[in-house]
Amino acid sequence: GAEAADALVFFGATGDLAYKQIFPALQSMIRHGRLDVPIVGVAKAGWTLEDLRRRAHDSLSEHGGVDDAAFAKLVERLRYIDGDYADPATFAQLRETLGDACRPLHYLAIPPVLFGTVVEALGRSGCAEDGARVVVEKPFGRDLASALELNATLASVFPERSTFRIDHYLGKEPVENLLYFRFANSFLEPIWNREHVKSVQITMAESFGVAGRGSFYESAGAIRDVVQNHMLQVLALLALDAPSPNSHDGLRSEKSRLMDSIRPLTPDDVVRGQFDGYHDEPGVAPDSTVETFAAVRVHVDNWRWAGVPFYIRAGKRLPVTATEVLVTLRHPPETIFDPEDDRRRNTFRFTLSPNVEIALQARAKVPGERMSGEDVQLVAQHHAADEMPPYERLLGDAMRGDATLFAREDTVEAAWRVVGAILDDTTPLHRYEPGTWGPAEAERLLTDDDCWHDPRGPTS
Ligand code: BG6
Repeated sequence: GAEAADALVFFGATGDLAYKQIFPALQSMIRHGRLDVPIVGVAKAGWTLEDLRRRAHDSLSEHGGVDDAAFAKLVERLRYIDGDYADPATFAQLRETLGDACRPLHYLAIPPVLFGTVVEALGRSGCAEDGARVVVEKPFGRDLASALELNATLASVFPERSTFRIDHYLGKEPVENLLYFRFANSFLEPIWNREHVKSVQITMAESFGVAGRGSFYESAGAIRDVVQNHMLQVLALLALDAPSPNSHDGLRSEKSRLMDSIRPLTPDDVVRGQFDGYHDEPGVAPDSTVETFAAVRVHVDNWRWAGVPFYIRAGKRLPVTATEVLVTLRHPPETIFDPEDDRRRNTFRFTLSPNVEIALQARAKVPGERMSGEDVQLVAQHHAADEMPPYERLLGDAMRGDATLFAREDTVEAAWRVVGAILDDTTPLHRYEPGTWGPAEAERLLTDDDCWHDPRGPTS
C-alpha cells in the first residue's frame, strides 16, 4: 500500500472552501488522532500566520464548534505562506517550510484556472517528488476538451496514482452504502437488471437558490454543477457490475466501464429550466440562459440495462431539499388478486438526504375475507445523517493514499462525453416558478407509465 502523507499543504487557505470545509475537517481529524503532520496554508492575501489562525478559529466557531484541545494542536501545526502562485519564491519558501517532509499532500482549494500554474511550480520547486500527491476540487473542466487539458497538466507533474479528484458525493456515507448494500447482499443481484427493473430515478432537489454563488453558477448551470459529476457517479454506483476483489483498482475500473457504456445524451433526452427570479441574484447576467434545473433520460447501453430508462432530475428552488434514488420493478406477470395490485409497483428507495433510509415497498394483504392489499414499507435502514462529513473522509483517504473514493481520469472524461452535446444553449430553456418541480416539459422524458417521484410522497 501507499505510505501516508507526511505534510498537508492547502492552497487557497484564506478562501471560502477552507473556511467552510477544510478547517472543520482538519480539527476533526486531529481530534480523532488521524492527523499528526505539519499543515501548511498557502494564499496571496497579505496575511500573517496569526491572521490565518484567527480565520481558523472563526471558521470553527461557525462550522461545528471549537474543540479546545484539538484546536490548540491545529494552531501549533499550522504554518502559513503568503505569496503569489506565479512567483517561484513562494514555492521556494514552501520547499523550505516542508523541511524533511518528502510525501506532502497538496490540496488545491483554488479556482481551476490556477491549477496549471500551481502544479507546474510544485514540480519545478521540488515539492512534487515521487510520493507527493495532489488533490483537486471540482469543477473538473467545463467540457471534455478542458478536462483533457487539465488532466494533461496534472499528469505532467503527478502520476495518476498520486492524483485525487474530489467529488464530495463519493465521500457521503449513504452513497458508499449504495455499493455496499448491492454487493454485501445476495438478494439484489438476481433482479438488478432489465428483466426486473422497469426504471431508475435519481432526484437531487434543493429548495434554496444559488445562495450567493451567482457568479460561479453562471459559469456552470445544473448540468455542469451536479449532473456531470454527482448524479452520474451515483448512477454508476447503482448500475455497475461487481468489481473483482482480485482486480487492481477494480471498483474504479468497473465504474469507468459503466460510464463508457452510457449513450451520449442528445437534446431529445434533456429538459432545462430556470427559476423565475434567477436574474435578480447577485452576479447573474440579466439575460442569462444558464439552467438552474435539468431533467435527463439516460440510456445505459449494455446487456444488463438495455431499454431501462435512468431518469435524473436536479435543480434549485424546488419544493424540498432531498436526494433520493428510486428503483422501480416490473409488475408481477399476472394479476390474481386485487386489480389495485396492478397499479402498484415494488420499489427500492434509497433516500440519501436529508435523512438516510433504504426501503422496499411491497403489497401485503389486509386482514379480512377479501384478497386485497395495502402498500407496506420494509425499511432496511434508517438513521439521521452522515456520520463523518465527506471532506473529512476524503481528506483522510487522500492522506493515506487511498484513491477509491476519488474520480479517476477516464471516468471524468467519459462523464463529459455523456453530457457534451447538451451543454449551454443546445436545448430550449423553460421557466419555472420557485417552489415547484421545474418546468412541466420534464414530463416529456418519461416513458410508459413512469412518473417523477416527489421524495415526500408514496413511492408507487
Ligand atoms: C455542490 C454544488 O457540488 O454540491 C452545489 O456545487 C450543491 O450547487 C452541492 O448545492 C450539494 O451538496 P450537498 O452535499 O449539500 O448535497
